[in-house]
Amino acid sequence: MNKIRKAVFPIAGLGTRFLPVTKASAKEMLPIVDKPLIQYAVEEAYAAGIRHMIFVTGRTKRSVEDHFDTAYELENELELAGKTALLATARSIAPEDMVCTYVRQPRALGLGHAVLCAQELVGNEPFAVLLADDLMIGSPPVMRQMVEQFSEWRASILAVQDVPREDTKRYGIVSAESVNQDLVNVIEIVEKPTPEAAPSTLAVAGRYILTPGIFKELENLPRGVGGEIQLTDGIANLLRREKVFAYRYKGARYDCGSKLGFLQATVDLGVLHDEVGSEFSAWLERRHPN
Ligand code: G1P
Repeated sequence: MNKIRKAVFPIAGLGTRFLPVTKASAKEMLPIVDKPLIQYAVEEAYAAGIRHMIFVTGRTKRSVEDHFDTAYELENELELAGKTALLATARSIAPEDMVCTYVRQPRALGLGHAVLCAQELVGNEPFAVLLADDLMIGSPPVMRQMVEQFSEWRASILAVQDVPREDTKRYGIVSAESVNQDLVNVIEIVEKPTPEAAPSTLAVAGRYILTPGIFKELENLPRGVGGEIQLTDGIANLLRREKVFAYRYKGARYDCGSKLGFLQATVDLGVLHDEVGSEFSAWLERRHPN
């Protein structure tokens, strides 16, 4: 099987870094300007040719299901009022050829466990994983770049970027040997090492293409960093059986699981926004004249 048809969105996380807003609301529904984070990730997968979206969900995430469902009352009202542009916006959230399925992660046992919850729905084929917290802006979109890499190498691909050494403890870190300018062959991967212990400063961003072999590795995996079942540990085991590549994606990443990253994304995307971008830029200029 060569085509990536399915994407997994682990969205059961509690979003504690973003309290109090995440107490009763899904962090994936936080908007960057006018679009929730999860929609950016779904659009990125769709732009990569993926049509089956699998959400691994949990308590307080009902709004995500509603977001990707048809809103009859809303559509009806907009139609009656002749608001065709807004109607098109509402309908574009879930194109007709897109399928969304939902599976619950009953306990927050970690990212590896979340991916394992999608096993039945993914089946025996390679698939994508997108962490909506990591907002990726690329042209072509980052998942599309990765799908292109996959079609060439037919193996698991992790999106990576260089980070400052003091930040290694926030990421999965790979050590690798170079294949070409954009791609490395992963030799080792460790979850959130201290700067002293980190094998390199090449960090995994929240985009993965994984072969179905990962599921076997995630079953019976002992708890790792933070007492969680880590996807990184599953990939470390997968490395014993299969090649795994890491791809230096082209684009910008915003860590929207952190308040600072979220604000930076809001400003950068606000400036580019069709409707409010130029006014917003002018306002920023007035506040901070160069
Ligand atoms: C997760 C992964 C980590 C990866 C990161 C990217 O960590 O466990 O390996 O580098 O996403 O954002 P989290 O940010 O969920 O703690």
